[in-house]
Amino acid sequence: MSALDTPLPVPAARRGLRADPAVRMLAYAKPAWAWLSVAVLAGVGTLACGIGLLGTAAWLISRAAQQPPIFMLGVAIVAVRAFGIFRGVFRYLERLLSHDAVLRVLARLRVDVYRRLEPLVPGGLPGGVTSRSGDVLNRLLHDVDSVQDLLLRSVVPALTGALVVAGTVVVDAWLLPGAGLVLLACLLVAGVAVPWVTSRAGAAAVRRVAPARGELTADVVDVVHGCSDLLAYGAAQQRLAHLDRADDELTRLSRSSAVSLGLGSGLTTLATGLAVLGSLLVGVPAVRSGRLGEVVLAVVALLPLAAFEAVAPLPGAVQQWGLARAAAGRVFAVLDAPQPVHEPPRPAAVPPPPAVLAVEGLRVHYPGRDEPALDGVDLLVRPGARVAVVGPSGSGKTTLLLSLLRFVEPTAGRITYGGQDLAHCAGDDVRRLVGMCSQDSYLFDTTIRDNLRLARPDATDSDLRDVLARARLDHWLDGLTDGLETRVGSLGAAVSGGERQRLSLARALLADPPILLLDEPTEGLDPEAEAALSADLLAATQGRTTLVVTHRLDGLGDLDEVIVLVRGIVAQRGTHAELAARDGWYLQAWRQQRGELTPLVG
Ligand SMILES: Nc1ncnc2c1ncn2[C@@H]1O[C@H](COP(=O)(O)OP(=O)(O)OP(=O)(O)O)[C@@H](O)[C@H]1O
Ligand SMILES: [Mg+2]
Repeated sequence: MSALDTPLPVPAARRGLRADPAVRMLAYAKPAWAWLSVAVLAGVGTLACGIGLLGTAAWLISRAAQQPPIFMLGVAIVAVRAFGIFRGVFRYLERLLSHDAVLRVLARLRVDVYRRLEPLVPGGLPGGVTSRSGDVLNRLLHDVDSVQDLLLRSVVPALTGALVVAGTVVVDAWLLPGAGLVLLACLLVAGVAVPWVTSRAGAAAVRRVAPARGELTADVVDVVHGCSDLLAYGAAQQRLAHLDRADDELTRLSRSSAVSLGLGSGLTTLATGLAVLGSLLVGVPAVRSGRLGEVVLAVVALLPLAAFEAVAPLPGAVQQWGLARAAAGRVFAVLDAPQPVHEPPRPAAVPPPPAVLAVEGLRVHYPGRDEPALDGVDLLVRPGARVAVVGPSGSGKTTLLLSLLRFVEPTAGRITYGGQDLAHCAGDDVRRLVGMCSQDSYLFDTTIRDNLRLARPDATDSDLRDVLARARLDHWLDGLTDGLETRVGSLGAAVSGGERQRLSLARALLADPPILLLDEPTEGLDPEAEAALSADLLAATQGRTTLVVTHRLDGLGDLDEVIVLVRGIVAQRGTHAELAARDGWYLQAWRQQRGELTPLVG
């Protein structure tokens, strides 16, 4: 089991400081703390070597100008070399340790966010998060990445800077107390006042950057996915103009945060100059009065230059904190989203098939809806039985299938398999028992082979050909020059709608789940293709426990039971023959469909 298999505990949302997303992210990154502390010490070492290098070099140059015997310079020469070498070594250690620790946390966070998103997506992301795929993608990529900036570009430089500044001021004050005071004052201006001013100036922009980037990505993904519809309706220009506006907004925000950062960098340079000038103003009279050696004056004047190396990154660090804080808030919105389905802490085993699947008094009430989507549904599916679920749009058919897959939590009632309540089993185990082929199954932009093998990675080519034949795609496959190596295009764009549905069916057959759910598998096809696929589907599912949601009523004669859902209630149930002979929704729909089909048949 790899480290990534165990999610890190997500710190609970609390009040006060602990509610701050950046602080919560720091708590989440706890496993990285130890190595980050070592990295901070290495960072202090780097800067201390830099300061030591400049200080000793300044002393060496001024002392050498007095032309003393060479042995008097020996120690300083060795010190300059040592500082130069160790500066590089410390810098390398700091980068290596901090990045290693942070990238480990980042990998865990990405997995945790993905794990959290996975069960949320089928039932719809909660309103507080988003329903736009581009924005979700952005949270998973950019927003998670910004945690790296929080630690590497904000916390580490701030801690390193604070330690180095304290050390330098002490040394400077020891050499000449007045110069120490001047340095302290200038460092406080550059390290506290300047970052505060620049963060104030750019605060609004910094807060808006992460959501603006999310919107832009979501817009781009929408435009790319809906490209053919936009072109067909002549709406492409309008959407592109909208994209342009979103892009301009992001550019404007980035520019205004860059301006405040530039302001910070200018003010820091000014403070550096003032510190050098101030040190000279205090140092020169001290040399004149004999309180300071003339050689040490060079050290006092140049120390500030090195010390400011430690505070220069601070305005950027404060800005990074703001950016990362906004991004962390978006990541926690996903991590905190209530899970739609409760996972039992100690899951029970799913009984081995074959067994009876029973739905008892199932009620599902989506939050924010007046009426329940399902209200007291009972259903018994024996091994090998095929049951059709029909009914008007919005009557709860898909909801019933999603409950069987444990993507939706029942409000009341239960679903059992072999007597075991599936609510006590792990969602993933249930989804190994129950497999679904939905109306909008996703095809990846890769080969037919890879798309099918998602369902069973160890399937051989002959297994693939077998399921393709059962989905009646064998002739189509024979006509492809590249055979199983043929690419299906983005979202299956390089295959027809019917072929796409059949490929999804072949994939579901390859997965070979003990219970197969089909949700409107013929939706969106022309009547002829629909009739052909329906017939093939029924043939392919012969003898397999199947629940099929369909609006096509012809061909249901072979099925064991048909249930009619109307507004979440089982309005009718029986075989096709029984229902077609009784007054009710089924007979009406059946008549209507036969009426529509007559001209095609005749
Ligand atoms: N994630 C959701 N949040 C809130 N309400 C939902 C959600 N999903 C579905 N609903 C509502 O629940 C009801 C049943 O929806 P469901 O998708 O199960 O219907 P359906 O019978 O599959 O319809 P169709 O034939 O159009 O596919 C509808 O009123 C729908 O608006
Ligand atoms: Mg549906």
